[in-house]
Amino acid sequence: MNCLAPSILSADFTKLGEQLELLDRAGAQYVHIDVMDGSFVPSISYGMPVIKSVRSCTDRIFDVHLMIEEPIRYIDDFVDVGADLISVHVEACRHLDRTIHAIKDRGILAAAALNPATPLTELEYILPDLDMVLLMCVNPGFGGQKYIPYMTQKIRDLKEMIDRKGCQTDIEVDGGVKLDNVREILDAGANIIVAGSAVFQGDIEKNVEAFLQIMEA
Ligand code: DX5
Ligand code: ZN
Repeated sequence: MNCLAPSILSADFTKLGEQLELLDRAGAQYVHIDVMDGSFVPSISYGMPVIKSVRSCTDRIFDVHLMIEEPIRYIDDFVDVGADLISVHVEACRHLDRTIHAIKDRGILAAAALNPATPLTELEYILPDLDMVLLMCVNPGFGGQKYIPYMTQKIRDLKEMIDRKGCQTDIEVDGGVKLDNVREILDAGANIIVAGSAVFQGDIEKNVEAFLQIMEA
């Protein structure tokens, strides 16, 4: 099944709770939460207190994308505030296997994230242990950037690698996804779609419905 994961990085933080309820009502299955530390990526976003305060606004899957150095230091904290799925960057983990298993040991879903230029071979051995792979299609750090064209081939290559290994791993695509390129991204093999600016600019409910219509077709 294809799922939509609106990224709240582009939300209006003065009414974050209301906007989460809107996303839920419109049918978005995940809430994508970008955590940035100002070191792994240039920007700083938000962390545990914000996630904790909005956890009660929706039962949808809290999909926490950690763009932080050595995320293993904070796995327990993010699980405690309500993460259902945590993605860690392979480029930010000294011990990726240990970090992935620290997430799984807490009983939630675990994913590895790759920056655009990071090769898929990084996943060769750990793939069967992952619930999801997050492919960044822009350089992480900011919303509203342009999709990097070579990413479509990378999505196809990942899908082929997952099938070859007989895995059931989800493929999440993050960065630069719009109504006019989501079909190409799904056709390449992605099944979880992150969209920030394309959901929050304009009418949120209408945007979610427009994405879901394409994604369910
Ligand atoms: C970027 C974040 C994305 C971002 C996507 O580092 O990981 O989740 O919010 O924003 P758009 O959809 O506007 O590219
Ligand atoms: Zn993200």
